[in-house]
Formats: sequence, structure tokens, C-alpha cells
Amino acid sequence: MASTTEDFADSGRHAEAEAILRGNDMGGYSVPSEGLYPFQWNWDSAFAALGYRVLDEDRAWAELETLLGAQWEDGMVPHVVFHKEDPRYFPGPDRWGVDRCPRTTGISQPPVLATAMRRLLELSSDRDKAALRVRAMLPKVATWHGWFLDARVDPETGCVAVIHPWEAGRDNSPEWDGPLSRIDTAGVEPYERRDLEHVDAAMRPKAADYDRYMALVQFGRDRGWDDRQLAAEAPFRVGDVGMTAILLRANRDLVALAEQLGLTDLASRAAGWIPTLERGMAALWNDRIGAYTALDLRSGERGGGVTSVSFLGFYAGVATGEQGRKLIDHLERFADRCRYLIPSYDPDHPAFDPRRYWCGPAWIVINRLVALGLAETGHDGWSDRIHSDSRALIENNGFYEYFDPVDGAGCGGPKFTWTAAMWLDWAAMAGK
Ligand code: DGY
Repeated sequence: MASTTEDFADSGRHAEAEAILRGNDMGGYSVPSEGLYPFQWNWDSAFAALGYRVLDEDRAWAELETLLGAQWEDGMVPHVVFHKEDPRYFPGPDRWGVDRCPRTTGISQPPVLATAMRRLLELSSDRDKAALRVRAMLPKVATWHGWFLDARVDPETGCVAVIHPWEAGRDNSPEWDGPLSRIDTAGVEPYERRDLEHVDAAMRPKAADYDRYMALVQFGRDRGWDDRQLAAEAPFRVGDVGMTAILLRANRDLVALAEQLGLTDLASRAAGWIPTLERGMAALWNDRIGAYTALDLRSGERGGGVTSVSFLGFYAGVATGEQGRKLIDHLERFADRCRYLIPSYDPDHPAFDPRRYWCGPAWIVINRLVALGLAETGHDGWSDRIHSDSRALIENNGFYEYFDPVDGAGCGGPKFTWTAAMWLDWAAMAGK
């Protein structure tokens, strides 16, 4: 296998990654994958920007500005922005019933944005020019983070509660199986999935999952996506490790950016949210398993398995001492069971399914965040291992949405924007 940046650039993957980003560029925003996901997705865009930076810095910032252009008045930045009609995807804007321009969904997604902005600014070729853009965006990003604190953080525990698995971005993680099993699907309006026209059904969520996803969309739509009502009544309200860790880290990055730009009020507002989220991560620690796992806020039950986002404890700056050691033990066990890190679900758990979306496959974007956190906390060996596995997965298989962690096979959508972006930003690099 090639081992230097130059070798990888020679491999042809560089040119392919660039072509994917250009092909998925709709002008100011990108789609994750042609056909399968033909609109702008929230956290996809944050990762995409890091790839566009390598081609064109202006284009990278535009990706984030377009996303923030769809922000709601209350600060929420939606999970999907439907810039144009496209019948190839379900559920489209009518099902969500959000009467806005541009049309959007009614939920959010993990806020990787501030963290991506910090990296873009650090790497910018013209810092003053980039700082102007950051200055214009930061108040909007802070309003979004504030919205999470008001609308999604559970006051008792401090963790971020998602009201739909799509909000977590990890649609069919087995963590949701317990909470989803209580969702009544009797009133689900007839619908036809479109995803199975693009991807093998064995790699996608099951029919029963989709019925529940649609029941939850209808529940929110029928209440006008009123956050107060949803917090009180949503049948699905689960403390999510991924969301809590990513928001905590994003707040740390928001504080750093605001301080760099002399925005002291904004910096102290964002700093004030950090202790709550640290408390939230502590509340998600599952002593029985020795890892951060989901917490069903309706039933009080904890998730039954370690996930790849459990390892985001390092990235969030909270996995220290004994907790950090236990997480590393799990990582070691995962590495014994799977050739390629990081399986999205515990390979020793009966629900592990190496090709089914978030039930087992490795995702390069999660690898990127986990590896960053490990490198920052002195676990360089593990960070390097995740880096080289990610590089090999792409080099050997192409730019798939996700990968089988056992044999490396590419799964889900091909020519995937965030995988190509992570190649350009990180995986192809010899260093990090
Ligand atoms: C889908 O449609 O599969 C998406 O993950 C929803 O965000």
C-alpha cells in the first residue's frame, strides 16, 4: 500500500476526489450524493467545506454561508435545505410541512460548523479576508448553539436530546431500537421510499424503521415544529452522545474563534454553555458498559452498546482518567474484531450488522473527529491507526458513503461528497 502523500496523490484518488466535489457542487452548496441525497444536508456541508477549501477557499466559505442562509428566526439551522424540487428523494418538503423559503426540514443536525470554521480560518491563505467572513457568521452560529441549549438540552441532565433519529445524523443506530419500539405507527400516511432505488436494501434502514421515522415527522409537522411542545410531548426524546459531544466541542471552538476576533460578549456567552454540556456528557456515561451511550429520556433506559461516537469523549475534551482508559479498551477490542476502524456499532453486540448504515459500517467523518480527539489527548498511536485505516478504505474501495469494517467493502451511496472532502482535507495526508 502506498504510504506517502505523493503516492496517494499519484494514485488517482486525488483527481477523483476533486471531480466528486465539482460534480456535487450545485453552485454555493453541495449535495451529499447525486440522486440519493439531492439537497443540502447540514453536517455534510460542514465537512464538505473542508474539502472545497483545498480547491477554492471562497467556495468553502460559501458552502457554510448558504447553510446559515436557511437558519430559522429562533436560531435553528435545519438538517436539510430543499433548494429545489427533486422527486428522487423522500420525504420531500411537503411531508415536513415547513412553510419557509427556502423550504427545509423541521429538525437540526450535529453542529460541526464552528469546528469546521476554525479549521478553515487556521488554514486560510488570506487570514484578514477569512476573518471578515467568520465575523459575519459567528453571531448566527452562536444563535444556533443557543437554540440547542433552549430547545434540545435536557435541563435535568444537560445532555442534548434529539427528537428524531435523523436529527442525530445516525439514523438506524441500534441505540434507537428501544425508544423507537414504543412509537405508534398506526396513523402513518402512505408513502413510498426512494432510497432503495439508489442503494441495496441490505445497506439501508429497515421498513419498520422508516415507518417510525415517518410517524415522528408527522408528529412534529402536526405541531408546527413547536419546540416547547416537542420537548414536552415528543414520543422520541433521547440524549445523544454524538450530538452532545459535537456541540460541546463546537462551543469550545466558537469561544476560541470569538476570542481571536475580539468578540468578548459572544465568547463569554458560549463559554457559559460549556459546563452544562460537560454535565450532559457525564450523564451519558454508562457505568455498566464503561462507555458513553444514549439515554432514553422518556423511559430512563440507557443504550445497550458502544458506538463509534462513544469515542467522541476525547474530541469533546471529557474522556479523562478511568473513563478514557475504558474507552481505549473498547477501541482495542473493536480493532481485534474488525480489520478497519471504527465500526459504528459494537462488533460483539447481536445488533452489529457490518453493511447496514449505522449498525456497524465505518464512516470516514466520524473517524476524522475521533482521530482528532485521540491525537489531542496523547493517544497518537490510535489516532494514526484510524487515519491509516480511513486512508486504506478509500484508497482500496473508492469514495463510498460508508464501509464494511470487516472486509472494507464500499457501501451506500458512491461518489460521496463528505468522503471525498475528508480525503482531501485529511486522509491522504501523511501527517494530520
Ligand atoms: C436519509 O434520508 O437517509 C437521511 O439520512 C435523512 O437525513
